[in-house]
Amino acid sequence: MDCQYCHAGARRGAAAGIPSVDRCVSCHRVTAADRPDIQRLAGSVAAQTPIPWVRVFKVPEYVCFPHKSHIRAEVKCQRRGDERH
Ligand code: HEC
Ligand code: HEC
Repeated sequence: MDCQYCHAGARRGAAAGIPSVDRCVSCHRVTAADRPDIQRLAGSVAAQTPIPWVRVFKVPEYVCFPHKSHIRAEVKCQRRGDERH
């Protein structure tokens, strides 16, 4: 999947953003709807409570990294720093 489908703020803002559960259920209303983890998603929608994401990665406070200049230059999110164009 395209990163920006979920991290829609990356193009414009300072933060890439975390998708709301509505973005997930746009597919998962149908896709894998019978699986336990997807039923937890549906439960989160029904209860109108956001998903309690557990943060696994954080850049230090002094880092300012808006994505937009890289997106405009069409640098792929998956590209490593030591790769050439
Ligand atoms: C299906 C939606 C979805 C897609 C597609 C997606 N992400 Fe995410 N991403 C998330 C969610 C939800 C979180 C928050 C989850 C968490 O932190 O536990 C997250 C968290 C992150 C984080 C950590 C951010 C932070 O501040 O903790 C990074 C970095 C990230 N994604 C990069 C990417 C990249 C790069 C791609 C494309 C290769 C991508 N994501 C595609 C949904 C998505
Ligand atoms: C563009 C469609 C799409 C979106 C949006 C999407 N997913 Fe998925 N997701 C899929 C597909 C396709 C699979 C693979 C289903 C399979 O194994 O048949 C999947 C698999 C999963 C699974 C594994 C299910 C299992 O138990 O096998 C989880 C959990 C999941 N997605 C959570 C999320 C969450 C949370 C979001 C929102 C942050 C999200 N998805 C957004 C399409 C999507």
